[in-house]
Amino acid sequence: MNVLHVVGARPNFMKVAPVLNALKSHQHVAQTLVHTGQHYDANLSDVFFEQLRIPAPDINLAVGSGSHARQTAEIMTHFEPVVLERKPDIVLVYGDVNSTVAAALVCAKLGIRVGHVEAGLRSFDRTMPEEINRLLTDQLADVLYTPSEDGDRNLQREGIPPEKIFRVGNVMIDSLVKLLPLTQRQSMNGLPERYALVTLHRPANVDDSATLQGILQSLLEVNRDLFVVFPAHPRTRQRISDFGLSTGRLQLLDPLPYLDFLGLQARATVVITDSGGIQEETTYLGVPCLTLRQNTERPVTITLGTNVLVGRDPDKLRSELALVLAGKAKKGTVPPLWDGHAGERIAALLAG
Ligand code: UD1
Repeated sequence: MNVLHVVGARPNFMKVAPVLNALKSHQHVAQTLVHTGQHYDANLSDVFFEQLRIPAPDINLAVGSGSHARQTAEIMTHFEPVVLERKPDIVLVYGDVNSTVAAALVCAKLGIRVGHVEAGLRSFDRTMPEEINRLLTDQLADVLYTPSEDGDRNLQREGIPPEKIFRVGNVMIDSLVKLLPLTQRQSMNGLPERYALVTLHRPANVDDSATLQGILQSLLEVNRDLFVVFPAHPRTRQRISDFGLSTGRLQLLDPLPYLDFLGLQARATVVITDSGGIQEETTYLGVPCLTLRQNTERPVTITLGTNVLVGRDPDKLRSELALVLAGKAKKGTVPPLWDGHAGERIAALLAG
């Protein structure tokens, strides 16, 4: 059996690693890894391959950045000949990035089976590019691997037959469970014992100057009570500089490698973010998470986990932060099947 994996952007790498690894123990499975090159900076890509021990990609499409249309089209154009040449039995796509939907569309037109890992998540907000990617990828996929029960429900509501849906748990948590012990030896590099860890990169938060300025002001206010560490996505750094905004005494860093970031999350007093994956990682770690969004495609992080949506409301951020600092942060539990074995379940289903 010939399985071809497609990855492209930072949040894909911790999802593919456990599936690749689990499939290795099935001798009749041959694997091909394709990197679209959507993320190309060493600290958004190469360092993740090293730390997660992902083999070098067999093929790199090197598409780079561009508008959504251009980037998606470039991936499709470069990926189609690869599929025609390699003739995979199934192509696995991960998450909700442009590389995911582009590869799924190519395969659907060629009649190649598609498996979607992390299927069924919905924010119900079509202004998010990722929501469009999720909806389309799930319609195109032949096999849908969901991380939680809400995913199954969303897919069935959209008319996906139940026999295509497999609830396997959260592959990203597999990587976390495996690598968390390695972060225990890390030094704190001069960080205080209590700090807020911040990430920010959603277009809705960073592409508009007034919105970004408002968020930075709220963070500067947080910084009066709690040291703020802020590894900034290249998009965010670029916008801060384009708009000429001040980051005052916030500790701005370059994007961090997987292990360094995981260690920082595990020890954080609070995480303030607009990322999808970080809402899940903090829920697993039991660390309070204040999410700078109005909605989430990961509702179990709210119903079961430590996540609270604060939107862009500075008052809500202030009051939730006060609860955290008073030791009254929301307590959570780990959702079912977020147990470090999701990749093995996918491999078992695929390899029979
Ligand atoms: C993408 C995903 C998003 C995910 C995020 C994680 C889509 C629609 N979005 O967003 O879901 O949460 O990755 O990082 O696929 N850039 C660099 N170096 C790189 C890559 C990008 O500097 O290696 C800069 C470029 O200026 C580029 C911008 O970041 O234009 C945006 O990159 P892109 O891949 O289009 O989307 P992300 O914002 O990273």
